[in-house]
Amino acid sequence: MFSFFKTKKPMKDVPSLKVDVHSHLIPGIDDGSRTMEESLSLLQGMKDLGYDKIITTPHIMKDSYCNTPEIIRNGLVELRVAAKEKGIDIIIEAAAEYYLDDGFLDHLERGDMMTLEGKYILFETSYFAKPLQLEEMIFEISAAGYIPVMAHPERYRYIKDPEREYSRFKELGVLLQVNLNSLGGHYGKTAKRLAEFLSRSGMISFLGSDVHGKKQVDFLSDMLKSEAYGKIYLNNTILNNTFNTRT
Ligand SMILES: [Fe+2]
Repeated sequence: MFSFFKTKKPMKDVPSLKVDVHSHLIPGIDDGSRTMEESLSLLQGMKDLGYDKIITTPHIMKDSYCNTPEIIRNGLVELRVAAKEKGIDIIIEAAAEYYLDDGFLDHLERGDMMTLEGKYILFETSYFAKPLQLEEMIFEISAAGYIPVMAHPERYRYIKDPEREYSRFKELGVLLQVNLNSLGGHYGKTAKRLAEFLSRSGMISFLGSDVHGKKQVDFLSDMLKSEAYGKIYLNNTILNNTFNTRT
């Protein structure tokens, strides 16, 4: 693997990540886990990495994944039952990763949003084109009483002027959720560079695994021991562990 993982000693006084806020572990409803067996193996993998609580976030996307709160909640119940039967001792909750398409405002209007801890809405956009109504949709999320959280801001190719564009999101009240694996290059050089920028600039509020399959769990195992992970805590206030870990 990458040389910096091997040469650096683990940093002291770095909190271990107990709560994950972004993953795709409900089987068969998006591009994440395909079967219950796979989901259980991924959950066990997360538990082995030290996580106590997983808030899994299936995609809600008009053209590809027409998931509803009902579908997600039913999937969550099945996943919890299967995990319990298998003896995997981990808290599982569900929210959603909302794609900001032209169906998003309908969800917001209808209410019954799948939130993180009752108040945060995790959203993503196209990787390539910034939605024309992005600021308006962010405003509507806030106006409805939620806190918008942008999933993996380092992965959007339309970010050309990171300082200006990320600062603008912050001004709009958006919290940023970086994928920890981006800092190790899992999503390529540009995402790594932008994640490093966000870490240095103190703009990160949440870390996510964005687990879709085994390769992200394996990669995370190295990342959680890396210097890059330790460095995040020097400049950023990470909120993951402030979430409730009691059942
Ligand atoms: Fe995701």
